[in-house]
Amino acid sequence: MSASTHPQHVWIQKMYDPRSDKYNDSWHPSFAKLMVEKVSPKHGDHLLDLACGTGLVTFPAVDAVGPSGSVTGVDISSGMLAQARKKLEEEGEKYNNVRLFQHDITDLAGLSEIEAGKFDVITCASAFVLLENPEEALREWSKYLKPGGRMIIDVTHPDSLITGAILEHVGKTMGIYIPYFRVWSSSPDALPRMMRSVGLEVVRTDDVQQWGGDTFVPVEEGEEQFNKAIEGTTFEGFRRDAETTATAKWLFLNEWKKRAQDGKVRDKDMVFVTIARKPDSTSTDQGEAKPPLTGGCRCGNVRYTVSVLPESYCNCHCFTCRRLSGAPYLPFAQFSASDVTWISPPESLTSMNIAEVATRTFCNKCGSPVGMTYVSNKRDISLTMGSFDDGCLDSVEDLRGSHIFLEEKADWFKLDKNDGLGRYTLFPTTQESNWYDSD
Ligand SMILES: C[S@@+](CC[C@H](N)C(=O)[O-])C[C@H]1O[C@@H](n2cnc3c(N)ncnc32)[C@H](O)[C@@H]1O
Ligand SMILES: [Zn+2]
Ligand SMILES: [Zn+2]
Repeated sequence: MSASTHPQHVWIQKMYDPRSDKYNDSWHPSFAKLMVEKVSPKHGDHLLDLACGTGLVTFPAVDAVGPSGSVTGVDISSGMLAQARKKLEEEGEKYNNVRLFQHDITDLAGLSEIEAGKFDVITCASAFVLLENPEEALREWSKYLKPGGRMIIDVTHPDSLITGAILEHVGKTMGIYIPYFRVWSSSPDALPRMMRSVGLEVVRTDDVQQWGGDTFVPVEEGEEQFNKAIEGTTFEGFRRDAETTATAKWLFLNEWKKRAQDGKVRDKDMVFVTIARKPDSTSTDQGEAKPPLTGGCRCGNVRYTVSVLPESYCNCHCFTCRRLSGAPYLPFAQFSASDVTWISPPESLTSMNIAEVATRTFCNKCGSPVGMTYVSNKRDISLTMGSFDDGCLDSVEDLRGSHIFLEEKADWFKLDKNDGLGRYTLFPTTQESNWYDSD
């Protein structure tokens, strides 16, 4: 496509073209990989990677869909795409099923090479907050999914990259163009709500850390933060003239001080990752009354239904899970708590905070472990896979999840080196464990 004069495109090219050769030297590769793992494309899937950049999602996605599937990447930055194309050329045959297009991801209708209703999975990693009109984009993207197809998108926590978040507010107050559009995403539910409003079903939202934990900046370093931030391209609008700089600095510092607690401003390391699904109209048309998933305890005292199928699974090797299950690890599937309905009376469940981080639920008669909710994330719930009724998961091809909490793995238990599953020391954040059995 020819160079676009649309302000968002001009800004994006200006921001990403010059840094494209260094872009992969960052936390982006591990985060992009995690996005692929979370949406878990299946063999044979056709995947559309929007804002594919240097291909950090694109290439791992090719491995997931295999030779019978395909991956289509779209990005506006010629610099970023050049990096992806370089890899394509280097690897030759291996990536025969990859197509890359330089195009605006908010104008898919203008990209004649791709057709609506053809994709099983759409990914958009680390780019959604760059779009001027995210809701319109979502509405268009959902047309490109097949019924039942899934979409995965991340948005930053409102306090993540806090200096930039405040500067975006300041820019909007002053009428200065800032190429970030995060203000709408003020809570973990903002993106799920937007997805529902365009007719998608939300499967779940995960909190994910990207670079190893929150940082705390002394409040008196506010001016230094401001001066450093406006040196770069993103906030160059604040350098227009001395008066603009002074006004912006005043507004920034005002907000910066308001955010301080105990003399420090927190830069939160968190993004919200949401997976949504395009409703499968054929299955609802046939009036299927049965919920997709049902389950309960050993004795039947505890029963639940879930309105969606699980989208992710994990095998927890923590000491508590091992002892409570009497097995080397406890397999769980994750859901939004709002999708789970307990049909048995509340008193059939006993809840315990055994290891502080999580509340565990058991049948009060037979003791079966059924559910677990992390204290830090009460929106989600994990259900023990052993509690699912037979037949519920027949349509799910791959039920296997990552190994988590390997730090506490039973030393006598040998992991299968070739199982191809993710391995994490603790939680499934971007921090991958290089845990392998030494036999
Ligand atoms: C932070 S990078 C993310 C790249 C890749 N998804 C990853 O996870 O590494 C953001 C990308 O969004 C692209 N982008 C932003 N706005 C776009 C638009 N309107 N159309 C196409 N690409 C866009 C940029 O060119 C850039 O490559
Ligand atoms: Zn029971
Ligand atoms: Zn555990």
